[in-house]
Amino acid sequence: MTDATGAAAWPRHGGQPDAFVELARRHGLAPGRPLCDLSANINPLGPPPWLEAQLRATLPALARYPDPDYRQARQAIAAREGLAPAQVLLTNGGAEAIFLAAALHAGQRGVIVEPTFGEYARACRHYGVGIERLRLPEPDFFFDLQAAAAAMRHADLLWLCRPNNPSGTLVPRTQVEALLRGGLTHGCRLVVDEAFVDFSADDERLTPLLADYPNLLLLRSLTKYYALPGLRLGYLLGSADSVACAAECQLPWSVNALAADLVAPLLEDHHYQRQTRAWLDAERPRLQSGVASLGFEAPVTEANFLLLRDPHVAAGPGSADPLFAHLLAHGLLARHTHNFAGLDGGWLRVALGERDANRQLLEVLAAWRQP
Ligand SMILES: Cc1ncc(COP(=O)(O)O)c(C=O)c1O
Repeated sequence: MTDATGAAAWPRHGGQPDAFVELARRHGLAPGRPLCDLSANINPLGPPPWLEAQLRATLPALARYPDPDYRQARQAIAAREGLAPAQVLLTNGGAEAIFLAAALHAGQRGVIVEPTFGEYARACRHYGVGIERLRLPEPDFFFDLQAAAAAMRHADLLWLCRPNNPSGTLVPRTQVEALLRGGLTHGCRLVVDEAFVDFSADDERLTPLLADYPNLLLLRSLTKYYALPGLRLGYLLGSADSVACAAECQLPWSVNALAADLVAPLLEDHHYQRQTRAWLDAERPRLQSGVASLGFEAPVTEANFLLLRDPHVAAGPGSADPLFAHLLAHGLLARHTHNFAGLDGGWLRVALGERDANRQLLEVLAAWRQP
């Protein structure tokens, strides 16, 4: 995949500003000029301030193997979720949870609701899971319950990202329940990736449904919300049976001791959680309405990012490249959508930043509108 100039490759994920240095130079960004990275959906408050001291204090843990069952971390997660520890599997980021979910269905058939995170398809390919793609329509990406329920009838698992990366949209809970009921009847599992659910309303987590639906698997990430993508920390929730099966597929000691020791204090940091909620409540509506009032199309987001496109530009593959270049020339790095099946570079995804970054983004988008 190449950029607008046909030279450099598009990075597969966001959060890799170094990959854009040459591209930025070509778009008139002076070397060394700071680049505001809106390409990765990381909490802009940064990691909790106590983290550095905590990591230093736990460094001696590197001299021993972690508890292979991660009992303490799993207990902390189970307590917060109201589950039994046997329903929790600690993973090396949400990414490992995705691959474990696919491993449970090696050689079977899966449905992916698109546009969505590309790692579901990659995990399916890795484990020989056949893929049927269900494409939601632009520009709102409303969920098609009937089509999804019909697809589940002849599949073994359906992937749902909720809220969805990259659209930020959230399938209504009643529709998720309808899928789960159908799945029980037809023997299909629903894998819901809740990597961004902590940025949605508190009652959007689907954990309570685990009590009634053994065919539900929830995947979580601690890296986005706590701004620790380099640490690699996530978990998988499900019935005790499915968690035990997933654990069988996991590499031994897949989570390092420093990361595992952080789970309980992270989940107990209610001050950080309140600060994050205050930031979201102030900035998300401001950015959503600001972008709409400038005439951009952007589905309603329940996450910490926004998908947008200019409806005045003829839609088509790569049609958002000029806007990407405009943002880059003004020091803002957006996430291209060339490798989101169905979007093909026609949209851009921008992470919600702190107030100054959001203001700058709106100013640069307003400048795009100037003749
Ligand atoms: C929807 C979704 N799920 C899971 C992940 C993986 O997150 P982690 O850093 O926890 O592996 C990502 C990362 O971008 C994501 O966008």
